[in-house]
Amino acid sequence: MASDKYPSVYVVDSHADWPHPPPKLRQRQCRMGVAQTLLFMLVSVALCGMIIEACLIYHLYQLDTAPSASFSKHTGGEDDTSPTKKPSYEIPPSKPVAHLTDGQDVIHEEKIMAWSMNADPLLYEMDYKDRKLIIQKEGYYYVYSKVFFTDNGVFHHSVNMHTEKYAGGRITLLQSRKYSLKSSKIRSNSYLGGVFHLYKNDAVYVEVSNTTKIDRHKSFENIFGAYMI
Ligand SMILES: *[C@@H]1O[C@H](CO)[C@@H](O)[C@H](O)[C@H]1NC(C)=O
Repeated sequence: MASDKYPSVYVVDSHADWPHPPPKLRQRQCRMGVAQTLLFMLVSVALCGMIIEACLIYHLYQLDTAPSASFSKHTGGEDDTSPTKKPSYEIPPSKPVAHLTDGQDVIHEEKIMAWSMNADPLLYEMDYKDRKLIIQKEGYYYVYSKVFFTDNGVFHHSVNMHTEKYAGGRITLLQSRKYSLKSSKIRSNSYLGGVFHLYKNDAVYVEVSNTTKIDRHKSFENIFGAYMI
């Protein structure tokens, strides 16, 4: 056998210790490991930063595009704004003002229209109670209302008032009446507006001949408001 003639092949090998790397090489490998770890950490930090930045940009974009007067956006979720929360005005109105719209929280009476407290109502120095605007400060007010309705048969639209000065019944401030064919499928709008001297605790409200005829698609299509002049 070859191993008998040459007792040990390793003896003649001058590089007997080659499988073990020299201490210098080992040191370099170790240093490269540290560098790799450091590089990995730096890349990770950079990636994390980019992800956080992307999240912030997305959040800002959401804030920017969120406000809209769409019916479903404002009234779809009940979680976004509590109806009892009073809005704070950066620049408060100089005089009493109210602008009310339709919304999904609105439940009309058979004839008296209700108004949304979820769809960002403008309500300053006036109260909204039981489908009526309650005057707090005496003065002259421009009162207006617009409704969108199915125009078949008879339709009345009026702005009425209850006042402590005249006990008993309502006072009609404004009215429009429309008579059409029962078979017609037309939709129409009715707008009313005028100036009235109103007293504290006067209650102003919108009445129609039948609230089932009111077309309800967008919050801004049915409105009711008043402001002191
Ligand atoms: C309003 O319209 C609905 C549906 O057409 C009808 O059932 C109801 O009697 C009407 N109410 C009045 C006060 O006319």
